[in-house]
Amino acid sequence: MEHTTAIFPAEPSAQYRWWHHGIIYQVYPRSFQDSNGDGVGDLKGIITRLDYLQWLGVDCLWLSPIFPSPMADFGYDISDYRGIHPLFGNMEDFDELLSEVHRRGLKLLLDLVPNHTSDQHPWFLESRSSRDNPRRDWYIWHDGKADGSVPNNWLSVFGGPAWEWDSHTGQYYYHAFLKEQPDLNWRNPEVQQAMLDVMRFWLEKGVDGFRVDVMWHMIKDSQLRDNPPVPNAAGDTANPLYDDYLPVYSTDQPEVHQIVRMMRELTDAYDDRVLIGEIYLPIPKLVTYYGQDNSGAHLPFNFQLLTLPWNSREIAGAIDAYEGALPAGSWPNWVLSNHDKPRIASRLGLSQARIAAMLLLTLRGTPTIYYGDEIGMTDVPIPLDEIVDPQGLNMPDMNVSRDPCRTPMQWSPEINAGFSARKPWLRLPYNAARVNVEKQKNDTHSMLSFYRKLIDMRKKSAALSVGSYSPVYSDGQLISYLRQEHDETFLIILNLSHRPAYFRPQNTSYNGIIKLSTEEERIGMRVTNVITLAGDEGLLVQIDD
Ligand code: NOJ
Repeated sequence: MEHTTAIFPAEPSAQYRWWHHGIIYQVYPRSFQDSNGDGVGDLKGIITRLDYLQWLGVDCLWLSPIFPSPMADFGYDISDYRGIHPLFGNMEDFDELLSEVHRRGLKLLLDLVPNHTSDQHPWFLESRSSRDNPRRDWYIWHDGKADGSVPNNWLSVFGGPAWEWDSHTGQYYYHAFLKEQPDLNWRNPEVQQAMLDVMRFWLEKGVDGFRVDVMWHMIKDSQLRDNPPVPNAAGDTANPLYDDYLPVYSTDQPEVHQIVRMMRELTDAYDDRVLIGEIYLPIPKLVTYYGQDNSGAHLPFNFQLLTLPWNSREIAGAIDAYEGALPAGSWPNWVLSNHDKPRIASRLGLSQARIAAMLLLTLRGTPTIYYGDEIGMTDVPIPLDEIVDPQGLNMPDMNVSRDPCRTPMQWSPEINAGFSARKPWLRLPYNAARVNVEKQKNDTHSMLSFYRKLIDMRKKSAALSVGSYSPVYSDGQLISYLRQEHDETFLIILNLSHRPAYFRPQNTSYNGIIKLSTEEERIGMRVTNVITLAGDEGLLVQIDD
């Protein structure tokens, strides 16, 4: 595969906003910094670490949920959309956080969880109180089948049926996740207005936008038809799992786009805000969430790098498939890790994690960094009796707990890695005294220094942040592409294998100076024609002719 000219548009039609060229940094609030010694991170703690984020060079913080919640799913079960959970602080702390973020020229995104509430939310308490309660239809209630069994075959992502029997009113309610997370009925206009009001509340306060939880789940088939089984799946028929069925009726319904559009219209009524959607769908479906004429999400999260096997052909193919599928005028984005998936350094190893960082920070599109990846944090093994994640607890034999990727940030060699004065809610790794921000800050060879250099280069270069992308050459080991804007061109060559590799595009030669390499000794060297790379090496070359 070889191209010599830019085949993708150099510029999106819209003017660049902060979220085009900025870098998003995801903070899992329970695990960033504890300020009051209860072992759980909080807002005041985050405030004390804003200088670090500014030093690192990121532009925007996205906070996983900080709202009142029984914490059945660690905050993704919200019982009050307009408050702050006391574990994290109070509204005064939030206001201070927001103003401290803005004072530093940074942005703040909140996690909006509109698909479901907590079963303790007053809306649900009313809804379940009687069949004729005015809020009954705010959730998805249904009679069982004639034999009393569940209304259809939909399963919960967290295991077991997605329907819970309510003996008080004699009907089932639907929950895509835990039974403590009943799904709202987004076909009801009152629900739509109530959630838009929630958005308005935070937008008025000045938050810079939202990451919308499970956006593709928000509307379900009006007839509640059965999902078809995955063809030839070898699942356990007595105990089927979510992935044994194709969720074609329980997710990604056409009507969801009207909802996203409403959210976008509201977001756009405020200055310079952004709407991001969490969507795990294949590329052709994912890009429909940009909406017709880009009236949907500004950034439907692109999880290709997080879900695909790490090999050069797959990744190169996915980058081009994604670039090629983007609607005109839409803007790409890339995510490497998050609080639901294994950390990148655990998936790929530390050497390839640097290649992944180069990819994330040199591709065209807004990058999202997951806290701790910048110091190469790995998944922490959590003993069985310390597992707290409901996904892990509900499916004990499957090793799917998300606790390992949610452990406290490792700040220093001090007690509890400088995260808390007390035993943290999740344990730290044994090597936390060695792997931490303080140790890496002044070590020019560290992962942190590498991330910082990459971020710095991206910020200083229009070519790297908003320039055009054109694939150059990829084979069974390498991915390479050009980023270009005006007279500045960078060639990025990444060796996704552990063996030495040769960059040898046919018909063209690239001459330039290495500006960044995983092998630091090479920085400043000139390269031309066939370029030899070490295993696990990545090069950023400034082309000069
Ligand atoms: C997606 C969130 O990222 C995940 O952490 C949560 O468990 C589910 N949505 C349910 O809200």
